[in-house]
Amino acid sequence: MTTDELCRKAVEMIEMAYAPYSHFRVGAAVECDDGTVYTGCNIENAAFTPTSCAERTAMFKAVSEGHRRFRRIAVAAETEDFTAPCGVCRQVMMEFSPDMDVLMVNRAGQVRTVPLRELLPCGFDSKSLLG
Ligand code: THU
Repeated sequence: MTTDELCRKAVEMIEMAYAPYSHFRVGAAVECDDGTVYTGCNIENAAFTPTSCAERTAMFKAVSEGHRRFRRIAVAAETEDFTAPCGVCRQVMMEFSPDMDVLMVNRAGQVRTVPLRELLPCGFDSKSLLG
């Protein structure tokens, strides 16, 4: 899948967002190492804590279908600036694919690509725990 196609999928997923509290809609599309793509949106909850970000929705869909290696993830929001993944989502990315890239798409459709290792330097991962 081309970068444009992956980003377009993330943008399309904004429509699926369930964000009645923040009204901050986010879409994501994660590309697995075999090229399979899973999409996600943010899913909020009245109790707030159970809220899932778009990135985690997409990644957990992928992992639950047997995919544990990701090449990159596109994250789209309707903001002028690029919306960066929250710390929890960065940690989930680190668990499965420390060398993946994060593509942020703003409302103008511009794309900024940053390696996960730059977003989460000195990250705690399975090697830290298991040696
Ligand atoms: N959110 C995401 O889905 N991804 C991000 O990268 C940033 C934040 C969601 C969580 C919540 O539903 C709303 O945006 C406001 O924080």
